[in-house]
Amino acid sequence: MKLNIAVLPGDGAGPEVTAQALKVLKAIAMEFNHVFNFTEGLVGASAIQKTGIPLPEETLDLCENADAVLFGAIGNTSYDLDPNAKIRPEQGLLGLRKSLGLYANIRPVIAYEELLNKSSLKKRQIKDTNILIYRELTGGIYFGDKVLSDDGNKASDICEYNRFEVERITHLAFKAAQSRKRKLALVDKANVLESSRLWRRVVQELTPQYPDVTVDYLFIDNAAMELIINPRQFDVILTENMFGDILSEEASVIVGSIGLLASASIGEKHAMFEPIHGAYTKGANKGIANPIASILSAAMLLEHFGLDDEAALVREGVDKSIKLHITTPDLNTKYDHITTTKVGDFIEDFINNPDETNLNFTNIHLGQSTII
Ligand code: IPM
Ligand code: MG
Repeated sequence: MKLNIAVLPGDGAGPEVTAQALKVLKAIAMEFNHVFNFTEGLVGASAIQKTGIPLPEETLDLCENADAVLFGAIGNTSYDLDPNAKIRPEQGLLGLRKSLGLYANIRPVIAYEELLNKSSLKKRQIKDTNILIYRELTGGIYFGDKVLSDDGNKASDICEYNRFEVERITHLAFKAAQSRKRKLALVDKANVLESSRLWRRVVQELTPQYPDVTVDYLFIDNAAMELIINPRQFDVILTENMFGDILSEEASVIVGSIGLLASASIGEKHAMFEPIHGAYTKGANKGIANPIASILSAAMLLEHFGLDDEAALVREGVDKSIKLHITTPDLNTKYDHITTTKVGDFIEDFINNPDETNLNFTNIHLGQSTII
């Protein structure tokens, strides 16, 4: 298969982790005889620095003409601390999502057996967690009108949804549930918000089309608690933009590190693949950022194009790296010399040669452990 992939490394640790995902995709292309062409573009704070804007026209063109976008991370603490900044890195990501029509953000949350003790939650509570979050990505409070009064003392953000925006992602979430444990949980705040009541109405109306799926309704505050107390009760979670942002970051506690969570953002014409974590500015360029979320985002990219065997091999490589503790310090306190690049190298190696790699890396552990 031939694919043109736009690569937007972005800010902070984005370039480091994306570089590992690229290695992995290149290894897959070699192994399976595909042609993947990669073209890089600027976005976020690094784009502001070079061009003055977070989403240059050239980047948008590149993404519009690509088969898929591989995205790194966005953000910079200097903007976070300046509420008056008019131009912000995040506008780059939000502009991309909106312009490419990426309305469905799919975030898998899977607890790895080997990492259960990395979570601050109890093992027996999180074991076997496997959740798929469908987060609406181009509507809601993120994109509604934003107003700041002239005197700067009053501000508002409108949370608005149209029926069609709810319908299209609801269908996707129902279909996903049908291929899994056939459970869908709508998370909203329908006891307070009109927009949530629209979500509830639409989901109720569509439910008869999916008679094999059981639907639960939870308010966001309760869902936030249930997700921690008993994450196994969930199969597919469907929710609006901001609730999905918050719940998915909370869910990362279950798997032990936010550096593990990948995502796919899908629209009618375009698709983008990105870790759910931010730029991790303070960890950038130290070799400590976990590249697995980016690598698993690349696996989701492969699956999007039906390259399931290829994706399975990537996932196997990730599983192996976790089993052998070839992971960055967020997951690995014993072998803290294992850098972002080493994890990428290991998974790349595994793809090139699934049988022989383990030995080499086991030896690296043994060798280093005498030094530590
Ligand atoms: C995410 C991020 C983004 C979001 C930020 C960087 C704008 O937190 O993808 O979860 O809020 O959607
Ligand atoms: Mg987020």
